[in-house]
Amino acid sequence: MSNRRTVLGLGAVAGGMLVTAKLSTELLERWPGGARPGDPRFRPAAAAVDVPPPFTVPMPVPKELRPVIASAGVDVFRVDMTPATVEILPGVRTPALTFGGQFVGPTIRARAGRTALVQFTNRIDMEANVHLHGGHVPASSDGFPTDVIAPGRSRTYTYPNTQPGATLWYHDHAHGMEAEDVYRGLHGFYLIDDDAERGLQLPQGEYDVPIMLRDAAFAADGTLDFASFARPVVLANGRPQPYFKVAARKYRLRLLNAANTRVFTLTLGEGATMTQVGSDGGLLPAPVPRTELTLASAERQDVIVDFSKFPLGSQVVLRDATSGPVLRFDVVRRAADASRVPAALRPLPPIPAATAERDVTMSFDLSRPMPVGMLNGHAFDANRVDIAVRRGSTEIWRIGNGDPPGFDHTFHMHATHFRVLDRDGKAPTPDDAGWKDTIYVPAGARNIRVAVTFPQTTGKYVYHCHFLEHSAAGMMGVMEIQ
Ligand code: C2O
Ligand code: CU
Ligand code: CU
Repeated sequence: MSNRRTVLGLGAVAGGMLVTAKLSTELLERWPGGARPGDPRFRPAAAAVDVPPPFTVPMPVPKELRPVIASAGVDVFRVDMTPATVEILPGVRTPALTFGGQFVGPTIRARAGRTALVQFTNRIDMEANVHLHGGHVPASSDGFPTDVIAPGRSRTYTYPNTQPGATLWYHDHAHGMEAEDVYRGLHGFYLIDDDAERGLQLPQGEYDVPIMLRDAAFAADGTLDFASFARPVVLANGRPQPYFKVAARKYRLRLLNAANTRVFTLTLGEGATMTQVGSDGGLLPAPVPRTELTLASAERQDVIVDFSKFPLGSQVVLRDATSGPVLRFDVVRRAADASRVPAALRPLPPIPAATAERDVTMSFDLSRPMPVGMLNGHAFDANRVDIAVRRGSTEIWRIGNGDPPGFDHTFHMHATHFRVLDRDGKAPTPDDAGWKDTIYVPAGARNIRVAVTFPQTTGKYVYHCHFLEHSAAGMMGVMEIQ
């Protein structure tokens, strides 16, 4: 496996082709340090396989998983992690690694206050595991990178759902393999519903639509090409630039960027407003009208779009600044709409006084033949505790990008959510609003201050760059909550 890790985990930079320490354009072309809008490396390119014209395939909504047991206070779910051949491009068979045989895994809908026990069975021929991204879960159920499920074995993860309603997702986190495994399809939604949120009467049921955005490159035979960092095909719920038929009424769209290494900058055509109601950790205090959303890898934003503003027959296109059209909404029918967007959603509590401040600097060691990802100058070591924190305490972490121009990063912390205080002394961006677990750390960002209150649980969790090629290359640290 280590051989596979080395070769595939680093994709195009494998083979010692890189010239030491020289920030040549060659290096920048081969290594996905940046993924900013407009970056020519991320523009649509001629694909090796036939990609249909935009808006010719429908966007599916991943099916919701039914609990196998629903008893007092506990829901039990079962999911197989399994290789499967899936249809992403029409008529093309693509081998994938999946949850439940679906390229976008089944959506697990949990209820706040009810524990979910999810039994995952690893039917893949290598070690893998599951991390509930954004979940406040015990360390033993967090999918620590070395805490893996052996092939053929099952593991039941405990998700207490003691946090408020939110759009979470689950994905593989096996050490060094997460980038390739997630790229090949080990990703799905996990939504937490809560009663207070339900009482707000935001759009629900079929009008509450999770949308996973990501990119992919295909080889001529239809296989997913992991070695290429130019990933020209943009997928929404696993289909290329699909259309989605909507009623002329309000929808809640739960947008997730599940791309390994890409930033989406999204706008909606026809002058449509996206009213943001939630971010990574759930509802914002109040709705925020947005004309443009920036989602770095792993970030989520929940928006309400009111399609009743458009005549029947309208087509409203969601576009990305880099890759162009992503998804077209076709307004095809009328429907009753009793949903609302209340002026107040969920208040944010005051931030407790911090008892410590720390710096986390994200960078590559570019002096090696293959770049090594580092936090504060160290590559990931599962057996080293980089930061020890007290449970229940509040700290301020100052996140910095220590790399030269061209190398962007993201910062993600497990176990809890944090709040962005400021970015290099300036106000946070609208994309930083609310409870966050992942933020964009673009080149040049030196001091993004976040305030984090650690949970009352103890144990080891990781924090890392969520450009998964970077975390797989070592840009990850261990924090122990004591
Ligand atoms: Cu999606 Cu360690 O995270
Ligand atoms: Cu996570
Ligand atoms: Cu990074």
